[in-house]
Amino acid sequence: MQKVLIIGAKGMLGQELVNIFRGDKDYKVTAWDFDKIDVTDETQVKEKIGKLSPSVIINATGYNAVDLCEKDKAEFEKAKKLNSKAPGYLAKLAKKLDATLVHYSTDYVFSGMPELPEPAGCGGACSSCSLHEGFVPQLGFDENAIAEPVQKYGKTKLMGEESVQRNGEKFYIIRLSKLFGKPAKSKTAKKSFFDVMLEVGKKNTEVKVVDEETSCFTYAPDLAKKTKEIIEANKPFGIYHVANEGACTWYEAVVELYRMAKIKTKVIPVSSDEFPRPAQRPYVSTLINTRLNPMRSYKLALREYLKNTK
Ligand SMILES: NC(=O)c1ccc[n+]([C@@H]2O[C@H](COP(=O)([O-])OP(=O)(O)OC[C@H]3O[C@@H](n4cnc5c(N)ncnc54)[C@H](OP(=O)(O)O)[C@@H]3O)[C@@H](O)[C@H]2O)c1
Repeated sequence: MQKVLIIGAKGMLGQELVNIFRGDKDYKVTAWDFDKIDVTDETQVKEKIGKLSPSVIINATGYNAVDLCEKDKAEFEKAKKLNSKAPGYLAKLAKKLDATLVHYSTDYVFSGMPELPEPAGCGGACSSCSLHEGFVPQLGFDENAIAEPVQKYGKTKLMGEESVQRNGEKFYIIRLSKLFGKPAKSKTAKKSFFDVMLEVGKKNTEVKVVDEETSCFTYAPDLAKKTKEIIEANKPFGIYHVANEGACTWYEAVVELYRMAKIKTKVIPVSSDEFPRPAQRPYVSTLINTRLNPMRSYKLALREYLKNTK
């Protein structure tokens, strides 16, 4: 029986990881949250996790207040402690225990301006040779694309990836984007975008939604299941992109949500200039997955989520 430790177990992702692993009798699951361990305290990490000695450590903690840490120095320091330093403590300890570490990162490590791919065989200097005929470039970032975050949150998450790589040995860094699912049970629990937009749609006859920031949604139960598959398949250690298929803007997603939920509210596409926020968002941050089987589309996952939450 494998001993697995899930940290951040009351979070949106953490609670789904607990469900998936507890549903398999081959695992002995320990689920810890802030009340059991503070992962920003290296002594606690060494002592508490060292004593438990799990063979798999899954770190589902994270500081995700993108705008708050952009404008507030103290919050930025908090974000650095949890997103940048703590993953390094966990990686170091996992190496000592010969355990596998799973750590989660984000599409916000990317700049938002992906390179325009050329068809195979084309030198890239033209845009009209026969190889370009019918070629539809997939815009986004694969696992090896250069990470250049454009806001402080992304910088803290990239530092976290680097500290796992520097201090760890057996690790999976899984990047995801726009997580949705059941609201977390934790103190700082946030509703996901779809739940917020359902409420807004029920109260208004029209809503304005940003028709930019193309990227993928990630359904928390799908990510939890994929995490278990990656571990069990003994995939090579390194970076993975796990998000549901179907890159879209926020506006496109709300149109789909209201169609599925039969909400008649008018959805008006607007530019991000209409909703100025402290932190810059990547214009396109679609995660391209080249290392795993494709995930189902976010539309299928969303339909399931809506059915389960009725
Ligand atoms: N949400 C997204 O859209 C998104 C997008 C891209 C990547 N990610 C990444 O995905 C992962 C999971 O995100 P999530 O949205 O599921 O997070 P979440 O719902 O905020 O859950 C994080 C959990 O970690 C706990 N925690 C916070 N600080 C801790 C500490 N110092 N020690 C121990 N536990 C602590 C929190 O407890 P309290 O609530 O009590 O603080 C909470 O239960 C994170 O790495 C995140 O950066 C998320």
